[in-house]
Amino acid sequence: MAERRLGARLRLGIRAPRSRPLVAREERRVRRRGDPRHPVIDVRDVSKTYTLGEIEVHALRGVSLRIERGDFVAIMGSSGSGKSTLMNILGCLDVPTAGRYLIDGTDVSELDEDDLADLRSRKIGFVFQSFNLVARTSAIANVELPLAYAGLHRAERRARALRALRSVGVADRARHQPTELSGGQQQRVAVARALVTNPSLILADEPTGNLDSQSTADVLRIFKRLNEGGRTVVLITHEPDLAAQAQRVVHLSDGRIVHDERSRQADERLDGGGS
Ligand SMILES: Nc1ncnc2c1ncn2[C@@H]1O[C@H](COP(=O)(O)OP(=O)(O)OP(=O)(O)O)[C@@H](O)[C@H]1O
Ligand SMILES: [Mg+2]
Repeated sequence: MAERRLGARLRLGIRAPRSRPLVAREERRVRRRGDPRHPVIDVRDVSKTYTLGEIEVHALRGVSLRIERGDFVAIMGSSGSGKSTLMNILGCLDVPTAGRYLIDGTDVSELDEDDLADLRSRKIGFVFQSFNLVARTSAIANVELPLAYAGLHRAERRARALRALRSVGVADRARHQPTELSGGQQQRVAVARALVTNPSLILADEPTGNLDSQSTADVLRIFKRLNEGGRTVVLITHEPDLAAQAQRVVHLSDGRIVHDERSRQADERLDGGGS
């Protein structure tokens, strides 16, 4: 239910950027002043309360979280602990009730709807548990969707979508519609759609929740490769085996971060002065 609503909002978020979009302004600022080296994600004491009639649901209760560029972070926690709520805020699909969220140093509360739409469509790639592909539409047309307003010629859009499908190993299914694809193939198409705009941040909410173990391994391998290519990856998962592949694991419980641990591999990478 929540995912369906989110999917609709996500689709609404894909709209024409205005003439001087946020990302272009920011790129100009970075060229002029140099890279300010902000953490890509900086969540400061964020709370989220949903009000349902007389009832208040405290989905997040004072969450602070910084994520550096190029990190691979898994978010774990039991059902209802606030994982998707946090992810929606990270992806600028929802706003906090209290607290601040800065993405690449920009306070999201200062952005208008156009800036937010621009930021979502250019910087962030989303992957959901239920794929959220558009029905009765070919895989390649699904992957082209986020490029629809980027001002690219049709041939260029096709070429980029095909490259994205190839990079996740489903180019041979480009003409198939979602119902003609296996779950694993649908999710790989969804990953291709998330990366076709070359976003620096990939947010995935239980992307392997509906997949068998082989497809889970395939999708995880793709995320790891994207991360090794420099992208920041935030992955919600219930599976400890999957979380163990991340460089950092954050545990939520009842709307709070109760555990935040870097993996030994990640420490070794840092100690070794590697990338
Ligand atoms: N739109 C909403 N309106 C009211 N309550 C909501 C809404 N979305 C989420 N909640 C509530 O907020 C809390 C956190 O929900 P959330 O979806 O973030 O959990 P989750 O950790 O992602 O759980 P799951 O593992 O089941 O996906 C839950 O108690 C949920 O019922
Ligand atoms: Mg969830």
